[in-house]
Amino acid sequence: MAKREQLRYGMVGGDLKAFIGEVHRKAIGFDTRAKLVAGSFSVDPKLAEETAIAYGVAPERRYNDYKEMAEKESQREDGIDWVSICTPNFLHYSIAKCFLEHGINVVCEKPLCFTTAEAEELVALAKKKDLVFAITYTYTGYTMVKVAREMIQKGEIGKVVAINVEYAQDWLVNSLDPANQKATTLSVWRSDPKYSGISNCIGDIGTHAENIVHYLTGFDIKRLVCTTDTYGMALDLNANMILEYENGVKAGFWCSQVACSHLNGLVVRVYGDKGSIIWRQEHPDYLEVTKANGPTETWARGAGYSKEYAAGNLSRLPVGHPEGLIVAFANIYRNVITTILKKVNGETPTAEDLDFQNAENGLDGVRFIHKAIESAKEGKWVDYKD
Ligand SMILES: NC(=O)c1ccc[n+]([C@@H]2O[C@H](COP(=O)([O-])OP(=O)(O)OC[C@H]3O[C@@H](n4cnc5c(N)ncnc54)[C@H](O)[C@@H]3O)[C@@H](O)[C@H]2O)c1
Repeated sequence: MAKREQLRYGMVGGDLKAFIGEVHRKAIGFDTRAKLVAGSFSVDPKLAEETAIAYGVAPERRYNDYKEMAEKESQREDGIDWVSICTPNFLHYSIAKCFLEHGINVVCEKPLCFTTAEAEELVALAKKKDLVFAITYTYTGYTMVKVAREMIQKGEIGKVVAINVEYAQDWLVNSLDPANQKATTLSVWRSDPKYSGISNCIGDIGTHAENIVHYLTGFDIKRLVCTTDTYGMALDLNANMILEYENGVKAGFWCSQVACSHLNGLVVRVYGDKGSIIWRQEHPDYLEVTKANGPTETWARGAGYSKEYAAGNLSRLPVGHPEGLIVAFANIYRNVITTILKKVNGETPTAEDLDFQNAENGLDGVRFIHKAIESAKEGKWVDYKD
């Protein structure tokens, strides 16, 4: 059989008015090695059709529901190689399970699903079927996050002694007024347990904090203590926590959707006994690197010194030309596409190809959400593993 050079993918969710589906499509579009050929983009048939037409998806591959899509695509010789799941949280588990059962690779938005039992089932199913299961923890796709990871792994800030992460936004600040709490907003599903799960703020953004620390350091959580604030809403809008990792290092996490002045303020600070590294999502092309007793340096993506790190060469644009969220997604997809292409061509993906977050990282994220909410309810430290 001829070697495949291009993959075919489908999408569930992500109609033209949705937030993240469009980001996925644009990011995949950075790559000439994948084409959108099928979709169940919305429960609104008109919007689903408009999206399919806009992206040139053939009428017979526009599906009314994901089950029909999985069934029909798995029967086609030219069926999709993977599905990207871009729906609200409550659908991730059933959609992912359905496509895995039909032998189709999955890329799923975070959080992976509602319960750890569901997450464990998805991990096991992907393994049993030998399928790729990627989770789009966006921030692991940034070049300078990867450079920071390499610096930490090479011991350039010495032994990590403390970590601090904040992820602050203010888009739900108006919900603090009870008169506004029933008002519908574009993303109303995020604060409704039926669609969001047991958490809003921790599940939506705190989970990125958990994931990025693990990605940067490889540390595993031992226990955590958390407080949440709901301000009269059903779910958390603000949370503070302390995590202790297996090696004794502790981290302070703060996530909020009611912090006036913060837009998408993810800031990660890793402190070692020989220096520190700070990465700010709103300035993603730069790292603040400080060697103990030295001045703080600003490291730029694309500069020669950054390219001395393997990850520094993943840059798409020259130094000083800002990259951003869509490129971070594109970097994740570049590895996912390479991995799936290699698998369909009977080749073995390398560790570099496999540099994307997978179902096990997704399981960790779901466990983190549950443990944080459990701790907040019980008002005490909880062990991470049961
Ligand atoms: N990785 C990130 O940085 C990031 C950023 C934003 C959102 N997300 C995640 O992405 C997911 C979607 O978030 P969003 O902000 O794009 O939400 P959204 O409300 O903007 O879009 C949801 C989409 O799902 C579609 N949908 C709902 N039910 C469906 C069904 N049964 N079949 C097909 N389509 C259906 C809607 O029509 C819409 O297109 C969430 O899980 C969220 O946590 C991740």
